[in-house]
Amino acid sequence: MRVVAVLGGQWGDEGKGKVVDLLSDRFDIVARYHGGHNAGHTVKFGDRHFALHLLPSGIVRGRKGVIGPGVVVDPEALLSEIDALSATGISIGDNLLLSDRAHVILPYHRLLDGARERAAGDAKLGTTLRGIGPAYESAAARHGVRVADLFRPEILARRVSSLAAEMGALLSALGEPDVPLPESVIESLAKSAVRIAPYVTDTGRYLRHHLASGGTLLGEGAHGAMLDLSAGTYPFVTSSTCTSAGLAAGLQISPRALDASIVVLKAYTTRVGAGPFPTELSDATGEYLRARGNEYGTTTGRPRRTGWFDAVVARTSVALSGADAIAITKLDVLDDLEQIPVCVAYRLEGRPIDSLPPLVEDVARLEPVYETLPGWKSKTTAVTRYEDLPPAAVRYVRFLEEAAGAPAAFIATGPRREETIRRPDSNFLAALPPAG
Ligand code: IMP
Repeated sequence: MRVVAVLGGQWGDEGKGKVVDLLSDRFDIVARYHGGHNAGHTVKFGDRHFALHLLPSGIVRGRKGVIGPGVVVDPEALLSEIDALSATGISIGDNLLLSDRAHVILPYHRLLDGARERAAGDAKLGTTLRGIGPAYESAAARHGVRVADLFRPEILARRVSSLAAEMGALLSALGEPDVPLPESVIESLAKSAVRIAPYVTDTGRYLRHHLASGGTLLGEGAHGAMLDLSAGTYPFVTSSTCTSAGLAAGLQISPRALDASIVVLKAYTTRVGAGPFPTELSDATGEYLRARGNEYGTTTGRPRRTGWFDAVVARTSVALSGADAIAITKLDVLDDLEQIPVCVAYRLEGRPIDSLPPLVEDVARLEPVYETLPGWKSKTTAVTRYEDLPPAAVRYVRFLEEAAGAPAAFIATGPRREETIRRPDSNFLAALPPAG
């Protein structure tokens, strides 16, 4: 097993940063392949705490980080993240490679994201306002600016000017008063380019060569399958492919290279931004989960919506990515509950259904069918051995594995690296490359 992907199985914020961190020492390279700085990946160990957005989490473990061509990159955000990480003593040099084919998020994209959200009023998507969707739109419309353009002044000026003309008109129509002139955008991009230059390369070629010579690679998925542009709760989704299917295209390597994937699932469910959420708890229990699980966004600080574990979502996500294993995170957040309902199916207009309907209007009308499991009412925080879990917690884990359709390799019992159960009987863990 040389190429593995870590993926979110819900609506993001499942704890992928922690799982990537747990696996990083087995891989030479950790690569981001989709999304942008809308992601928020947290890594904690000892008394150290990192919140990463665009940089691959493996960098904090001394791995080489690759930002692939499927990622959309805001140069200023990248540079400020590099500076913030350097200030903590982790220097960024030849341990980071940035694809020359990645698309650049320009101020016009960010402004358009905000202007559209404002114009939508109550129907807004609740995006992270980072310009992600509009940058992917420019890419698909074939008028985007890519990293390689930053180093060719005439080409850059031409591309930015034509994008500015088109987007300026759109922004003015949406009532955006401060549309920057292309000259100022070009100037600031040129400045960022000087600092970004040392990292830029043809990462696809680099990775293909790396894999051909026997190297290992961990793909760091962002967001979650229910935010996938195609399979998620459209239109309340992000604009990239959030399943394992995105890895090959987003890194420009062969789809045959992927050996295994692991889907990360929180022991309950959260969602930020708008959109239907069948198991949402809008009551005191929901508030309890938010407080106990510290459910506030890593990227935006927004309070997360909370709800029970949704087995339909989990099963769908595992199937979409062909996951070999799951990681269950935040089990300890449920420690004090008397009973824990798990959604095993839905009802729509009285009819039972076991998959998400295509229209969010219908997803919003789903009534979850719950199976209720007993709580364990004892502390699992920081437990590291599976056999030390209380029997009711083991039963809950088994139920989730059965429901999701894949065995758990990791069970997280706290935010820190050390607070993790590695399942001794996990085939997934046994097949990993040796730690290095
Ligand atoms: P965008 O990715 O900023 O366009 O936002 C689209 C939707 O995806 C919004 O509901 C965001 O809150 C959500 N989203 C994007 N990235 C993440 C993430 O990393 N975690 C959780 N939600 C996310």
